[in-house]
Amino acid sequence: MRDEKSEFAIILAAGRGTRMKSSLAKVLHPICGQPMVCHVVAAAQAAGLQPVVVVHHQESEVRAALAGTGVLFARQEQTRGTGDAVQAALSVLPDSGTVVVMAGDAPLIRSQTMEGLRAAHGQGAATVLTARIADPARYGRLVRDADGRPSIVEATEATPEQLAIDEINTGLYAFDIAWLRQALPSLPVHEDKGEVYLTDTIALAGASDRAGVVVHSDVDEVLGVNDRWDLAQARRVLQDRIIQAHARSGVTFIDPATAVVDASVTLEPDCEIGPGAVLQGSTSVAAGAVVEAYCVLRNTTIGAGVCVRAHTVCEDARAEDGVRYIGPMARLRPGTVLKAGARVGNFVEIKNATLEPGATVGHLSYIGDATVGADANVGAGTITCNYDGFAKHHTTIGPGSFIGSNAALVAPVTVGDGAIVGAGSVIVRDVPDDAVSVARGDQVDRPGAAERVRQRKKQG
Ligand code: UD1
Ligand code: CA
Repeated sequence: MRDEKSEFAIILAAGRGTRMKSSLAKVLHPICGQPMVCHVVAAAQAAGLQPVVVVHHQESEVRAALAGTGVLFARQEQTRGTGDAVQAALSVLPDSGTVVVMAGDAPLIRSQTMEGLRAAHGQGAATVLTARIADPARYGRLVRDADGRPSIVEATEATPEQLAIDEINTGLYAFDIAWLRQALPSLPVHEDKGEVYLTDTIALAGASDRAGVVVHSDVDEVLGVNDRWDLAQARRVLQDRIIQAHARSGVTFIDPATAVVDASVTLEPDCEIGPGAVLQGSTSVAAGAVVEAYCVLRNTTIGAGVCVRAHTVCEDARAEDGVRYIGPMARLRPGTVLKAGARVGNFVEIKNATLEPGATVGHLSYIGDATVGADANVGAGTITCNYDGFAKHHTTIGPGSFIGSNAALVAPVTVGDGAIVGAGSVIVRDVPDDAVSVARGDQVDRPGAAERVRQRKKQG
């Protein structure tokens, strides 16, 4: 929270991000489940800095994405460049002290790197973090004059000799606030773009030998996201960090290269995640659980020891400790709760339903808006007919009951405790406790009739 002594980080997030070719503002594009700007904010906060986020494009959406994080906002009236964006944030800052400035489109910067830059800056006027990268492409280049004084030249304005420089501006800076206040208004407008470049502060500070340059060695960390390919690369780096942290704390990943795990996911030590598994949102997986290949789990709780077999898809579902297995190829939709000892087999869809302890739905069923009692066995192909075309209705299957294959339970309906429903039945009335109910056409057998049928067919 803001206090008199706190130091600030300005996060530039006002631009549209034209090169993303998107209706969504660039800083709102998610990476590992969170908008890009949230990663930057989190790193600044981890470095003990109070973020001030500069907004303009999709201002209300950016504010909403950061609601509850304790950041402050500054509005840039027109997006007239990075220098103008910092100017807009100055009104929120104290008169003096140090401020760190970072781009909202560089989501991989670590808090330690900010702390290091802040320390190296000391009492300077302006300090910039640079890196030497193999393909400097569109980044601003760090140019040094004959006396070693630094300045930054944008790729679009650089000479061929300057373009050959491999030291680039990462977009992370530390400034003396009082110096910045008098420097920014004196910066030139780059007429072709109508923009004021924050980068021009480096030459200005350099002229009075108050510019610092810190060269950073981790080139992955400084990646700026300007288009969708950059976004994909940034995701890869962040994903590796997330998976590596889980693996180091005791989670087995069969193939870390293909697992997808949001930053918000909780994995207890001693669980196992298979190839191609996609774990999103508030999903958690407890100790001893196995999530096999190509499962998709969104906002789903997997309890201790549960085996989620391959290709299962779950959303807003909960499998409590001791559930036996789910899948392969099962689908748990919102409101599904599975209790200890429950089993859900292949091609089973469950929605807004509870399987009490030991209940089994083994094959090819739809269980919607239902309660399946303890130790009940629901046969292959059973359907709860929960929807009559107008409203949804509940099905209650009593504990210890047995539902024969291919039964249709027309809701609202209750199958009593310990009851048996014959295969192929269409159940439209409640079944009493311990009753056997069969609701299907009787079987008719005509001995020898098959041969007569065949003869008739042959004669045409
Ligand atoms: C900028 C730097 C470049 C550096 C690169 C690092 C300048 C002029 N150039 O280039 O030297 O190598 O970052 O990634 O600073 N923004 C605003 N308001 C504006 C303009 C931009 O808030 O008026 C924000 C954007 O939303 C973005 C960040 O500032 O988050 C950087 O802007 P961008 O246009 O991406 O700058 P680059 O061309 O990447
Ligand atoms: Ca950029």
